[in-house]
Amino acid sequence: MGLFDGKKGVVLGVANDRSIAWAIAKEILEQGGECGFTHLPDKADDPKQKNRRRVSRLTDDYENARFLIPMNVQQDDDIASVMNTAAETFGKIDFLLHSIAFASLEDLRGDTVETSREGFKLAMEISAYSLVAVANAAKDIMNPASAIATMTYFGGEKCVPGYNVMGICKAALDASVRYLAYDLGPRGIRVNAISAGPLKTLASSAVGAKGMESLYQHMSPLGRNITHAEVGRVGAFMLSSMSDGITGELLHVDAGYNAMGSPGRLLDQLASNK
Ligand SMILES: NC(=O)c1ccc[n+]([C@@H]2O[C@H](COP(=O)([O-])OP(=O)(O)OC[C@H]3O[C@@H](n4cnc5c(N)ncnc54)[C@H](O)[C@@H]3O)[C@@H](O)[C@H]2O)c1
Repeated sequence: MGLFDGKKGVVLGVANDRSIAWAIAKEILEQGGECGFTHLPDKADDPKQKNRRRVSRLTDDYENARFLIPMNVQQDDDIASVMNTAAETFGKIDFLLHSIAFASLEDLRGDTVETSREGFKLAMEISAYSLVAVANAAKDIMNPASAIATMTYFGGEKCVPGYNVMGICKAALDASVRYLAYDLGPRGIRVNAISAGPLKTLASSAVGAKGMESLYQHMSPLGRNITHAEVGRVGAFMLSSMSDGITGELLHVDAGYNAMGSPGRLLDQLASNK
């Protein structure tokens, strides 16, 4: 018996085997859930269809991975087509994972104060508004007692230099979770965010997660960083009926880093280096 036996849902945001969305989806697939996936659209004349291939390489191994279709979350037609495909394949769905973010490198590398108007709008549209858009498009095909989860980061709660405009997007995303939880609560749809510590992925390389990993090792109560598998399990939990009393919540999977009010053991190390 798997936790997701008989459960069906849609996973948005797998780019490759390091994607957090894949860590969560793998857990769901292995626990018996049926999933539909999306990938970033490839250019029609690109014979390699790289975006699709990177994802199909993963999903092809699972019979319960039921569809893989292109979606750019900036396009309402693409979002509608995903939900139509989900309705045709599954009827109703039990879970929806949103694991999507983007900001231009220019805006991430410069100071936040210099963020361009276009860069701000683009980052907000893809990284925050998209949750509202997909929740709205999915709500009519979601079962009562179903769940939506999104991925966030501590940089939306506190200033994490280098995270810049993405921190502002995460603050908007975190607030969206609470308002969507309120709107969708009467339908029995829960909406939550999972705040992961830094993991090596395509997206995190753009926001300089590398330096943060060693900071977590030195500062977090557990004295280490987290793993993809740990986030995978918590993501699956938040999308399962095991968490059915939780909504509007932001759950940290960060080895306790967010609980610290000082650099902790890092101070001892600095003192011994003096
Ligand atoms: N990796 C980390 O350290 C970390 C920590 C906390 C939160 N997160 C968040 O987790 C989520 C997933 O990121 P990840 O680290 O797994 O990296 P990733 O690069 O594997 O995933 C980001 C996904 O966003 C998708 N995407 C970007 N623009 C899109 C668009 N216009 N339309 C549709 N999809 C689009 C990409 O195709 C990709 O699948 C993001 O929200 C990220 O901010 C990551």
